[in-house]
Amino acid sequence: MVPSEDAAPQLDVDKILADPGVRIVVCCGAGGVGKTTTAAALALRAAEHHGRRTVVLTIDPARRLAQSLGLTELDNTPRQVKGIDVESSGGELHAMMLDMKRTFDDVVLQHTDPAKAAEIFANPFYQAMSSTFAGTQEYMAMEKLGQLHARGEWDLIVVDTPPSRSALDFLDAPARLSRFLDGRMLRLLLAPARSGGRSMFSLVTASFGMFSKVVQKVLGAQLLTDLSGFVAALDSMFGGFRQRAEQTYRILQARETAFVLVAAPEPDAVREAAYFAGRLREENMPLAGLVLNRVHRPAVPELDAERSRAAAERLTELGGHEATADVLRAHAALARQAVREQQVAARFTEAFPAVPAVSVTAQPADVHDVDGLRTIGAAISRP
Ligand SMILES: Nc1ncnc2c1ncn2[C@@H]1O[C@H](COP(=O)(O)OP(=O)(O)OP(=O)(O)O)[C@@H](O)[C@H]1O
Ligand SMILES: [Mg+2]
Repeated sequence: MVPSEDAAPQLDVDKILADPGVRIVVCCGAGGVGKTTTAAALALRAAEHHGRRTVVLTIDPARRLAQSLGLTELDNTPRQVKGIDVESSGGELHAMMLDMKRTFDDVVLQHTDPAKAAEIFANPFYQAMSSTFAGTQEYMAMEKLGQLHARGEWDLIVVDTPPSRSALDFLDAPARLSRFLDGRMLRLLLAPARSGGRSMFSLVTASFGMFSKVVQKVLGAQLLTDLSGFVAALDSMFGGFRQRAEQTYRILQARETAFVLVAAPEPDAVREAAYFAGRLREENMPLAGLVLNRVHRPAVPELDAERSRAAAERLTELGGHEATADVLRAHAALARQAVREQQVAARFTEAFPAVPAVSVTAQPADVHDVDGLRTIGAAISRP
């Protein structure tokens, strides 16, 4: 049986974007499903249609998309997007790309005096961690969200989340990192190291999943000196790190936040979305709904795959109708895919029947300009 597409309530994105009580929209989901695209499309729509002064925090956007938003370099501050249609709405769109190293540096600068900050910046352990540590990107995305929110300049902040393997990393990594930055943890790690560097090396690499060449190099001979220096220098800031992560966590639980889950109609992405939805429920974080992105819809949904394929076969038997038969076969393939996708999506809807959802059709080409974002924004709003 084909699951009904409207089994879930319809997600009304315009209602969310127009609501002055909603100040933060977080787009999350598995890797590659369309988080960055959705975040940019929602932000553009909030500015153009709902007159909101909006900022979108993008993470690793594709180069062409970044360019079309006027983001030519990683400068870590929002830039106003020009050439969009905000004359009648009075809204504004600002965009930025997260620079995790600069964000980390800023946090250090804010929490310590310049001499100590310089000492920290020069430390190879800090250098490696601030640019390659697993979880730093998630932590810094939260940090940046906290900063943007604290400035109170925006009606709406739309947050893209990092291309993590697991969507849950966005929620978990900051806590993991702030635990790591906690002095006790580092001191514990340092203890066995004093009696032999090797154990320290394997312990750190194993515990924190450090893998890059840079980190490997850094964790070589200089490790102990660097790490001790790092601990000493960061000592004054431990409380600060944890406190800020907790503060942002509380913002994410507030009514002013709306989580938008993005999933592709594929088993892994939908499973990931379901885990995430479950987790948000546990954490009391407000889930607005699911965007099922890149779904396939045949032009004539009424013509099912079986009939289409049978007609193609018949035409082939008759001879002389190959082009028509090919079209029918292509239609049959698309219709089959659409049914499969609906079945996959139904797994989410069955588990979370009350979560509103909306489907966005796969576009014929990548979405990399403002027009493309408008199309996606319209599709999310008017399926
Ligand atoms: N509905 C759509 N139709 C066609 N192409 C799409 C659609 N949505 C997204 N894309 C394209 O898919 C690619 C991945 O999208 P995007 O970068 O938004 O995903 P992401 O979830 O942010 O990925 P990552 O996890 O790597 O950050 C991009 O090239 C984008 O243009
Ligand atoms: Mg992305």
